[in-house]
Amino acid sequence: MADLKFDFSGAFSENIGSEHGITSNDIEKIAPSIQNIRIDFPFLKLTSDKQLVNEIKNAAEQVRCKFQNLVVLGIGGSALGLKTLAQAILPPYFNFLDTKSRSGSPRLFVCDNIDPDHFSALTKMLDWKETCVNVISKSGKTIETLSQFYIIRDILIKKLSARRWKEHIIITTDQDSGPLRTIANEEKIPSFRVPQDISGRYSVLSAVGLFPAACVGIDIHSLLSGAADMASACKDLNIEKNPAIKNAAIHYIMDTIKRHSTSVMMPYSDSLALFADWYAQIWAESLGKKGAGPTPVKALGVTDQHSQLQLYMEGPNDKIITIVGAEKFRSRISIPNVASKENSYIGGRDLGEILATEQKATTLALKQVGRPLITVTLPEISEYTIGELLMFYQIQTAVSGKLYGINPFDQPGVELGKKLTREMLSRPSN
Ligand code: PA5
Repeated sequence: MADLKFDFSGAFSENIGSEHGITSNDIEKIAPSIQNIRIDFPFLKLTSDKQLVNEIKNAAEQVRCKFQNLVVLGIGGSALGLKTLAQAILPPYFNFLDTKSRSGSPRLFVCDNIDPDHFSALTKMLDWKETCVNVISKSGKTIETLSQFYIIRDILIKKLSARRWKEHIIITTDQDSGPLRTIANEEKIPSFRVPQDISGRYSVLSAVGLFPAACVGIDIHSLLSGAADMASACKDLNIEKNPAIKNAAIHYIMDTIKRHSTSVMMPYSDSLALFADWYAQIWAESLGKKGAGPTPVKALGVTDQHSQLQLYMEGPNDKIITIVGAEKFRSRISIPNVASKENSYIGGRDLGEILATEQKATTLALKQVGRPLITVTLPEISEYTIGELLMFYQIQTAVSGKLYGINPFDQPGVELGKKLTREMLSRPSN
């Protein structure tokens, strides 16, 4: 049973006025396009692959027994899902904890950029004899990931041997094709397969996200069960019975009729900060096509109340803001009694209580000034609720693609940049 709560009321005219708010009439107008949508997106099948989950759990157990560090090489959709999961579920400052406090899990390093300062620092910092490397690339030919792979392969050969380096590598790539698949086959490196019809930003519930997540102790059963329950809750084509379709419809109307083309994602928890990055990617890379598409912006509560919020309150009213919060945090930390009369109102308060109050106050303030607003509430941050959240936004994005009349699963613009980089680097250097 899905247990995320959605409040769409802040997008409707009765609450924020008719200039910026939408009406049920607006929704009815797009109902016929929704009737044509088939909720049979490729990523839905990922929640029921029991055989894969068993394979992943066995392989992850070996990594947990043998290694102190897990380095993940991947970029875009091959990294952001895992980063989101790790930040949401693992204890804060995970890599600084001792092995026991990490429940025997390896430390996790996700390398999703090729800044030479950062990457070379990592290569020098880690003990490679204690390190496992998961190389993740659906296409198997992404230049950033391949470059990192060859650097680390060289290090492993030097530190271990021309034979033993392979024992430290696990490849995750397309099931049949691509240079990484060739390397996995030729070198006999253990590998996971990414199904052909799953593109990067929809791959978090495939081996791309699940394997490294299982290595660091994330409960992938619970994650998949949250995702599966949300998928069942979002099957109906009746807008009022399907929150993902409803949110897609609201955002589509906001963008195309109300000219609110910026979609701000503002979670109120450090554990969900990277969820906003994941959302920005899936929204932008899936929907930004043929001269159309809403612009995602990531924000963080409460931090960005002291930065972006002024713009959202009094700047151009051209955005729709989503506030995501959790009903409870895992820790309590209270302020001691405060002697100062001026500050006594915070004495004895829990930080979570202050954060929740600020979230409520910001929600109210945005509504009062007529700014379109959606709220999503998680009962707690857990594998199950994160599974729900990720599935919800995958379905919402795929449905939105249908409303915009574009393919939400390709990324021709990104591919062009990749192609040109390869061509430029293939020319002889001066
Ligand atoms: O969502 C996508 O398809 C992209 O962001 C890719 O994940 C990214 O470009 C990396 O591609 P690959 O996994 O093929 O290395």
